[in-house]
Amino acid sequence: MNFELDKKRKDHLLGGGKEKQEQQRNKGKLTAFERIDAIFDSGTFVELDPFVVHECNEFGLENKKILGDGVLAGYGMIDGRLVYSFSHDFTVLGGSLGLAFSSKVCKIMDLAMKQGTPIIGINDSGGARIQEGVRSLAGYADIFHRNVHASGVIPQISVIVGPCAGGAVYSPAITDFIIMTKSAYMFVTGPEVVKEVTEEKVNFNDLGGASVHNEKSGVAHFVGEDEHDCFMILRKLLSFFPSNNLENPPRIEMEDDPNRQDQELNSVLPSSPHKPYDMHEVISKIVDNHDFLEVHKYWAKNITVGFARLGGNAVGIVANNPQVLAGVLDIDSCDKAARFVRFCDCFNIPLVALVDVPGFLPGTSQEWGGIIRHGAKLLYAFSEATVPKLTVITRKAYGGAYCVLNSKHIGADYNFAWPGGEIAVMGPESACNIIFKKEISESQDPDKKRNDLAEDYRIRFSNPYIAASHGYIDDVIEPRETRPRLISSLKSIYKKRVQRPLRKHGNIPV
Ligand code: HXC
Repeated sequence: MNFELDKKRKDHLLGGGKEKQEQQRNKGKLTAFERIDAIFDSGTFVELDPFVVHECNEFGLENKKILGDGVLAGYGMIDGRLVYSFSHDFTVLGGSLGLAFSSKVCKIMDLAMKQGTPIIGINDSGGARIQEGVRSLAGYADIFHRNVHASGVIPQISVIVGPCAGGAVYSPAITDFIIMTKSAYMFVTGPEVVKEVTEEKVNFNDLGGASVHNEKSGVAHFVGEDEHDCFMILRKLLSFFPSNNLENPPRIEMEDDPNRQDQELNSVLPSSPHKPYDMHEVISKIVDNHDFLEVHKYWAKNITVGFARLGGNAVGIVANNPQVLAGVLDIDSCDKAARFVRFCDCFNIPLVALVDVPGFLPGTSQEWGGIIRHGAKLLYAFSEATVPKLTVITRKAYGGAYCVLNSKHIGADYNFAWPGGEIAVMGPESACNIIFKKEISESQDPDKKRNDLAEDYRIRFSNPYIAASHGYIDDVIEPRETRPRLISSLKSIYKKRVQRPLRKHGNIPV
């Protein structure tokens, strides 16, 4: 045994010291080392740069050179697949980031890119290491730059298990998914600054806690009960992804009969077209083993997005949720779905849209907030996606929302509708109010006239057969046939390849 090496290794394992590690545990948090142990397959993690220390000799930091400099970085296996990761050590100067710390993170980001391997960041940090001044800002920017260039090449996931403040938020923000524990928080400017500038009094949690970012801002995609719960979500999420953009997602045989038909789907739609139903139930009955990992579960709930498998192949599902705002498209739901579609497209994950949409949400708040721009993102995202794209219209597909939600016209490969599908420019009542305005107003009983005309319109236009007669819908199917039809369609198009003209990049209306 080499005594010097052994001592250094032991020192390193203590991070900022036993007392600080105890304080960390008393807050209900794991240490950086425990997190790595919990995430990676047992004994597979290999650490790099355990002996790195910072070079700052100001503000007393010359006496606080701790081996590893507050971050663990390396690689290991998760469910037998290679993954790179870094884990902030809050016990060392509050996990704050200086130049040496950043260099360690950048080193493994570069290795992950060369190898084509996902990268996981475990964030628990007080932000830029104040004593290091501009060097810590440089360190952050070095990381951001790499996040941007890794985007769409390797999956990047951030787990937030403590503070994530100031510039520290922008690396997670660029990564593909953010998972937060209930006690974590993220904000650009903290409560003190908020009070000074706006006179608002707000605590850490109300400003940037997990519920804020999972329900209001949409910054975070998942919330875990505790750190172990977050790591389970992380592992499940990774199971749907390929290691990089040149590979396909792993196929996992789920032993669920691809020809399984679910009779209950035939009665899932309520008798009235105005009544809601639970689209989650539809998803669950269609996908392998009823297993659906919902992304952004608590934000913009009028659209549901997430990962599942069909016949063993990972798919991304985008589904209107008639239970919230009748499943209408608004600013947040368009943003949510557009980003999800683009992630799936980056990583060769086929898309399945389940459509029941009355249109775009009307009103000044939406128009002034730029629904035109936000709706365009979703249109753009589906349209540019080259992965296999399947659509099932379960009930309504009205107006612009019909076009936007993975219609044949913007490149979907297979479009199906259930027999009750209503595909039209707008709902019968609104349509009749416009095209029969005069007849209705001059009628002796305008309400009856409107209802009669609307009924006639519904019979003539609000069905899937006109769209099917043009080939815009490839087939009208019984709801119970949805799973086998999707699986067989997916098989028939799985090797799809689309070449676009060479360009620097498109200009999505961000
Ligand atoms: C240096 C820091 C630090 C930081 C915490 N510490 N944050 N050291 N730089 N940014 C140190 C503390 O001095 C303390 O050291 C130890 O970490 C633990 O911190 P505590 O405050 O005792 O812990 P706690 O009470 O749990 O509070 C955690 C905290 C708080 C809420 C994160 O430390 C805090 O508010 N820190 C500053 C957060 C912040 O404003 N960050 C933004 C920086 S500017 P000792 O030696 O006592 O153990 C920024 C812009 C970057 O990030 C822009 C990039 C583009």
